[in-house]
Amino acid sequence: MSESLERELDRAAKMIERAEYVIAFTGAGISAESGVPTFRGKGGLWEKYKPEEIATPEAFERDPRRVWEWYKWRMELIAKTKPNPGHIALARMEEAGIVKAIITQNVDGLHQRAGSKNVLELHGSIWRVRCVNPSCGYRATVREPPKEIPPRCPRCGSLLRPDVVWFGEPLPSRVWEQAVIEAGNADLVIVVGTSGVVMPAAMIPLLVKQHGGVIIEVNVEPSNITVSADVFLKGKAGVVLPKLAEKLGLKI
Ligand code: OAD
Ligand code: ZN
Repeated sequence: MSESLERELDRAAKMIERAEYVIAFTGAGISAESGVPTFRGKGGLWEKYKPEEIATPEAFERDPRRVWEWYKWRMELIAKTKPNPGHIALARMEEAGIVKAIITQNVDGLHQRAGSKNVLELHGSIWRVRCVNPSCGYRATVREPPKEIPPRCPRCGSLLRPDVVWFGEPLPSRVWEQAVIEAGNADLVIVVGTSGVVMPAAMIPLLVKQHGGVIIEVNVEPSNITVSADVFLKGKAGVVLPKLAEKLGLKI
């Protein structure tokens, strides 16, 4: 470990110890070491696929089968992964009463599988489906991809869709409201593995900063958040977060 990272980790740990209400804000980078591809950057999903063909309501209306094929592939991929030491370190910090909430843009469910309890999923979950018919309201959690693609609602026969947020759609309002409340309570946010380019999610760390809170960022490279970060911990989430937890006296 570089001397400067060691020094920055010490600074970060001190700030966390002094803070009263710590939250975490995570993105695809925290799941990268579990084998879940990120969206942007080298090897990112949006290099190979066009978001407008896969992750918009229009794409689903045009070709629900194609959209479902993609989600089926991702569900199969995610089902084979497990939480990495980054997820586990955050879960331990929550267990120890240090981290109060995890606000995530991820849909993979890996925070919960690592043992985190208070997880706010801003972009929904790949492990839930819902009926497209608003007057039906059918929702279900699933453990595996649907057998038939595209799946139909058992209640009304309309199409089922993944319960995730697509481009052009609003975030689930209760989850978003709760996230804004958490950001309002927080005097420190640990931002992990996000490019910070997707709004409104990326507002969360900035809301903390706006009322005088501290941003500690963990990323392999600078992001949109980095200019606002008080401490930048350069490295992989699965390496840096366990070290940070250790500095806080926790065993991983
Ligand atoms: P991105 O793919 O935009 O960014 C991933 C970030 O993780 C980048 O900043 C990488 O440098 C960083 N990273 C990669 N590997 C890492 C590692 N091992 N440790 C730490 N950091 C690492 O993912 P998000 O910011 O989550 O939205 O993307 C935000 C939203 O855009 C997603 O929720 C999704 C996407 O389109 C929707 O689908 C609505
Ligand atoms: Zn229905």
